[in-house]
Amino acid sequence: MFRRRRLRSSEYMRALVRETSVSVDDLIYPIFVVEGENQKNPISSMPGIYQYSIDRIDEELDRIREAGVKGILIFGIPAHKDEVGSEAYNEHGIIQEAIRHIKKVFPELIVIADICLCEYTSHGHCGVIKDGEILNDETLPLLARTAVTCAQAGADMVAPSNMMDGHVAAIREALDEADLKTVPIMSYTAKMASGYYGPFRDAAHSAPGFGDRKTYQMDYHNPREALRDMWDDINEGADILIIKPGLAYMDILKMASQETDMPLAVYNVSGEYSMVKAAAANGWIDEKRIVMENMIGFKRAGAQMIITYHALDVAKWIKEGY
Ligand code: PBG
Ligand code: ZN
Repeated sequence: MFRRRRLRSSEYMRALVRETSVSVDDLIYPIFVVEGENQKNPISSMPGIYQYSIDRIDEELDRIREAGVKGILIFGIPAHKDEVGSEAYNEHGIIQEAIRHIKKVFPELIVIADICLCEYTSHGHCGVIKDGEILNDETLPLLARTAVTCAQAGADMVAPSNMMDGHVAAIREALDEADLKTVPIMSYTAKMASGYYGPFRDAAHSAPGFGDRKTYQMDYHNPREALRDMWDDINEGADILIIKPGLAYMDILKMASQETDMPLAVYNVSGEYSMVKAAAANGWIDEKRIVMENMIGFKRAGAQMIITYHALDVAKWIKEGY
């Protein structure tokens, strides 16, 4: 008789036969940096996550160092927004200055800069606008300048999240021309137009002022289109692909791992975090168990890297043997 239970008999036995694991090395922690002084602003829809001003960020860096997390994804929130998102590509903008500071106080930390305009535009869209339309090709040079200024400030990687067509190629070309040939591009490749980004838009003040992002982010009904989009990014020179959101898109992640040989990251986005936090705060779920199950789900589906707001907790739970 088959007795599968033979190999489930004790914690040590289960550990020996385990097929998948998650390591602290896999984790990337998103952080929000806001212009101004002495700011540590809680984000009400994301308990435990704050916007920090540069003069308060060391406190967060200490927590990251202590957790052993090796990468952060950084978002800037400027004091002034305009139609064309000028602060995104100001070499002394909030994200550029934050990167300089972080690389000075914590040089080994892998700092990944989000490359988008929506936190910087007065209308909250990820591209420039004319007559109510989000323009693609006119946006590309601005994204390229954003990437170059972030890399010049010391970013170890750039992560374009704007979903304009051709953005990876435009950024690669601009980085190469600026003698930043060694800076990798971690591209949000299958980024769906998703309701799961709601809490992030509170955190980054980046909700679109009119309409939605459906003309540039992907339609979540289309897995085969997601694959085409991945190949576009690969051909344009992406070094790492991001699948986003995570939980509802495990099939896309699995497909990416089977159909490409690219390093893969999954973004366990804000709405996924908020749902877990809300249920846990009500005592309806066991937060640690649920979060670790989600992490292993991402690993099973093929992610090497997990971008998650839970990163510091996960690091601690891994060390404790969860
Ligand atoms: C900006 C951006 C978004 C996220 C990452 N970069 C939001 C959006 O597209 O509106 C979402 C991250 C999250 O929800 O945690 N382009
Ligand atoms: Zn955007």
